[in-house]
Amino acid sequence: MQTLRDLPALRAALGALRTEGGKIAFVPTMGALHAGHMALIAEARRRARFVIASVFVNPTQFGPNEDFSRYPRQEARDAALLEENGCTLLWAPSVEVMYPGGPEMATRITVSGVSEGLCGASRPGHFDGVATVVAKLLNQVQPDFALFGEKDYQQLAVIRRMAADLDLAVEIAGVPTQRDADGLALSSRNAYLSPEERVAARALPRALGRAAAALQAGEEVDAVLAAARAALADAGFASVDYVELRDADTLVPLAALDRPARLLAAARMGATRLIDNLPVLPAGKA
Ligand code: PAF
Repeated sequence: MQTLRDLPALRAALGALRTEGGKIAFVPTMGALHAGHMALIAEARRRARFVIASVFVNPTQFGPNEDFSRYPRQEARDAALLEENGCTLLWAPSVEVMYPGGPEMATRITVSGVSEGLCGASRPGHFDGVATVVAKLLNQVQPDFALFGEKDYQQLAVIRRMAADLDLAVEIAGVPTQRDADGLALSSRNAYLSPEERVAARALPRALGRAAAALQAGEEVDAVLAAARAALADAGFASVDYVELRDADTLVPLAALDRPARLLAAARMGATRLIDNLPVLPAGKA
């Protein structure tokens, strides 16, 4: 597996792959790879002959008080894991290659609607940074498919909307969340949790699971969401950013479970912000 760091080299390698023939699937990441990312690579391999992954810790999607500088960086380990899992090529640009005019470059993409509320409310500018870097990565790699984890469900919705609105010729595919045996969704940020916090964090998937079951059993939405927030606070989450029920496609808030929906939550365990979500279908549609 080659690791490429500049655009002329990437373009030459892509030209050679296109000449060989076959589809290209792309898995954009910020590195610190885990089994969740490998599920994306496995799905990419099912869909395409060639699999390209990127590792780029994107400064423009981190707020001033967020973890950009301490975000885990382990490119050699990531590259070995990608190679073992059958990746064709690793695209690992520097910040200078990605943003020659500086990260605060003039062109930014704002996806209205789905970016608003949820993580968009507590992380202002985050989804502009994600939409902009993903649009750039998709233009650079020009894949047939691009794969993203459903764990970042709002991010997936933002990227789908951006790709549709900009007529990008790529199929955006979501891959179900991968979980540890105790239910916690795999995330590079789990590495920040102390052993005690890691145990307490199990309350997040449990609270969502109970809430999803209660909603599907016909319980009232506001009461179910309030009970889930209380359960997270009782379990030691320092703050609960949100527990919400949204339309599965448009992410508009739902007061009743009258269509396919997504239950989404974000809460802080110590200094670590964790997110998770589950699908919820109205009775008769499960
Ligand atoms: O989910 C991530 O790892 C990042 O947000 C992404 C999509 C690679 C953009 O930087």
